[in-house]
Amino acid sequence: MTANMMTALEKSKPAEGLWMVDAPVPEIGPDDVLIRINKTGICGTDIHIWNWDEWAATTVPVPMITGHEFAGEIIEIGRNVTGLKLGQRCSGEGHLIGTESRQSRAGKFHLDPGTRGIGVNEQGAFAQYLRLPAFNVVPLPNDIPDDIGAILDPLGNAVHTALSFELLGEDVLITGAGPIGIMAAAVARHAGARNVVITDINAHRLALATHVVPSVRTVNVTEEELADVAQELGLREGFDVGLEMSGSQAALDQMVEALVMGGKIALLGIPPGASPVNWSRIVFKAITIKGVYGREMFETWYKMIAMLQNGLDVSRVITHRFAAQDFAKGFAAMKSGQSGKVVLDWAG
Ligand SMILES: NC(=O)c1ccc[n+]([C@@H]2O[C@H](COP(=O)([O-])OP(=O)(O)OC[C@H]3O[C@@H](n4cnc5c(N)ncnc54)[C@H](O)[C@@H]3O)[C@@H](O)[C@H]2O)c1
Ligand SMILES: [Zn+2]
Repeated sequence: MTANMMTALEKSKPAEGLWMVDAPVPEIGPDDVLIRINKTGICGTDIHIWNWDEWAATTVPVPMITGHEFAGEIIEIGRNVTGLKLGQRCSGEGHLIGTESRQSRAGKFHLDPGTRGIGVNEQGAFAQYLRLPAFNVVPLPNDIPDDIGAILDPLGNAVHTALSFELLGEDVLITGAGPIGIMAAAVARHAGARNVVITDINAHRLALATHVVPSVRTVNVTEEELADVAQELGLREGFDVGLEMSGSQAALDQMVEALVMGGKIALLGIPPGASPVNWSRIVFKAITIKGVYGREMFETWYKMIAMLQNGLDVSRVITHRFAAQDFAKGFAAMKSGQSGKVVLDWAG
């Protein structure tokens, strides 16, 4: 490798797969920092890009360095940047926003309609170095290790969704025990929910949920009726809050049935296409539904770091760790459905 070149995991051509390539180290602008990447997390989004499905083919320009879940260290600082220091460990918000939309000007940066994602629309974090606007940097306290720093983006999805509604003393139903659903279960517990029930159709995922959050009640909906579980737990009228984290139509239908009158649903899961919804059921149950996208900038980051420093433990959701060069093994683990979060090491 020559000077100013780096190793990066790239979608080099419009076909299935990703390729480890030599790429130029990004040049930073006056408002940016350069981050040396230590650890990255593989996301479902990266699997879509690997598979080159319809969404990826119509969204991602090539060549594109993939990846958006990362932890690293600041090694260069643009001339306009204040408040950050060389050597600062950090993660960061991978959604790059504009400042001119109505919502941005109202301070709701996560609702900017012009949001662009690193590793999707802009060069990403599966590389030795990442350029990021200083605005997006989130410093990591010393007690949060790089492994956890690398999964703050999906933990942030879980936190944003779980904290959408009051959970203290509530009975919470989570559909989908993927990494995000499992982390949401941990957050709901931490936030004081009374019962936390998580469903899936994959026994391995439910076993992982118990491993990460021992007090969660898991339900394999291919084997058990949710109504029986609600009765067993003593819920008289149903769950108070639903967190949809599977993207499955069947799961959403089941959630609507399982909620109390006037219940609340936060929807994070992304259905594969348009899907039929029984709206009259939702109207007559007077259910509130909130769509959740990304993380609040930067309240979600503030809250999740505070919770991690106050006993929230999601470390066991990381089931696989590989050197970046062994990325193919990491993607295979993700695709197997037998993994939680998979972390790649770029520093070792
Ligand atoms: N809105 C956002 O900003 C955002 C961000 C990240 C991820 N997502 C979405 O959130 C969801 C969760 O992410 P993840 O990485 O944990 O995904 P994942 O695919 O790893 O997990 C989804 C889980 O849902 C389970 N499932 C499928 N059908 C089910 C059913 N009928 N009932 C219960 N469970 C069922 C699957 O077996 C799987 O374990 C995905 O849909 C993802 O696309 C949204
Ligand atoms: Zn992600």
